[in-house]
Amino acid sequence: LPVVVLISGSGSNLQAFIDGQARGELPIDIRAVISNRADAYGLERARAAGIPGEVLSHRGFDDRASYDRALAEVIDRHEPGLVILAGFMRILSDAFVTHYLGRLINIHPSLLPDFRGLHTHERALESAVQVHGCSVHFVIPELDAGPLIVQAEVPVWPDDTPETLARRVQIQEHRIYPLAVRWLAEGRVCMREGRTWMDGRPL
Ligand code: GRF
Repeated sequence: LPVVVLISGSGSNLQAFIDGQARGELPIDIRAVISNRADAYGLERARAAGIPGEVLSHRGFDDRASYDRALAEVIDRHEPGLVILAGFMRILSDAFVTHYLGRLINIHPSLLPDFRGLHTHERALESAVQVHGCSVHFVIPELDAGPLIVQAEVPVWPDDTPETLARRVQIQEHRIYPLAVRWLAEGRVCMREGRTWMDGRPL
């Protein structure tokens, strides 16, 4: 399955895809890594893996709609069957999301529908939840509200800081994101009628 990965930062989830592919566990072809930030460390990871990296800065665009149109143009040049958001820290316009509906996925560092938006680990600690985690979901126009594909839970310990909790969650991110992508690549998972289907049945 040809894929394009969108990043803004460290790219540790991108690395999990690169590693899974190298181990022969992930039937994908990462055609390109696109970042909105030139200093994203994930671009180094792409380069080290021989994957073309591209930077499309949001500076210099008048509005979200025009940036998103330019972004879609860069993505579509690679003809991906799947577009993977991996720490891409921009809200995407409805038109962009609709263009890729059913082939655009994201990982969010909480057990959705809890803690949509930013600063999820801080908010989990403030709410004193005992279980936290991460979610892979299809992207729809409403932020962090798309149909779920897979989630992983982690315990929250009394002495956790946002950093220790984030680390525990990220270990699970690197496990479930490649898993979800593998299911998509194998045709086991899809989005239809606004919900997720797995092996022919609604999730
Ligand atoms: C992850 O925590 C992900 O859940 C969130 O952004 C972070 C990206 O990390 N959406 P990385 O760039 O993959 O290391």
